[in-house]
Amino acid sequence: MTVLHAVQLTVFPQLSMVSRERRHSANGHGGAVRFFTGLSGSGKSSVAHVLEAQLFSLGHQVIIVDGDNIRAGLCADLAFDVEGRAENLRRTSEVLQMFVEAGVIVLATFVAPVAADRARLRARLDDTTFVEIFCDCPIEVCETRDVKGLCLRPRSGEIVQLTGVSAPYEAPLAPDLRLCTDLESLEASARSVSVI
Ligand SMILES: Nc1ncnc2c1ncn2[C@@H]1O[C@H](COP(=O)(O)OP(=O)(O)O)[C@@H](O)[C@H]1O
Ligand SMILES: [Mg+2]
Repeated sequence: MTVLHAVQLTVFPQLSMVSRERRHSANGHGGAVRFFTGLSGSGKSSVAHVLEAQLFSLGHQVIIVDGDNIRAGLCADLAFDVEGRAENLRRTSEVLQMFVEAGVIVLATFVAPVAADRARLRARLDDTTFVEIFCDCPIEVCETRDVKGLCLRPRSGEIVQLTGVSAPYEAPLAPDLRLCTDLESLEASARSVSVI
């Protein structure tokens, strides 16, 4: 305990000498987060990739932070249980904050099934331009897409707590933007996000 206390005393978060305003004028835009949430197969990554290409072509600083990539690396040690999901988004909020500080537009694509976890993530980023985008698509349609072959695996017991099937997805009650990805085209969805 004594050692831990000593370490904590040596932690002094540093502020950048380069202001947000200077980054803004260099990039032509400020840092921002577009946070896509929705079931697996609802179209988060597809819409984000179209948008990323469009924004990059315009010369913007843009990056996709994808939940699967975070799970494969930074959060590979976490389970898919309640605690693991909460910690996954806590770490993610720190990553997003760093990109925002760097003046980058982040397209974050996460199932993020727990409303309280999403709210905590948003609170960590509350002084930034944060837009929550709900990719609203019925589970039956997501299953027909079955991008990752997820529908087959729960039966064989490989994936526990598959969101929307064996674990609840708490749909956003008041998202900043709702994309009905079963009804509108990919391009139409991307357009709706780009005009925010
Ligand atoms: N209007 C649409 N918007 C988004 N995805 C769509 C749409 N119509 C069909 N799709 C397809 O649905 C699948 C969505 O997969 P993906 O984007 O990987 O979902 P997620 O990232 O939410 O798991 C893709 O195969 C995509 O081509
Ligand atoms: Mg995806």
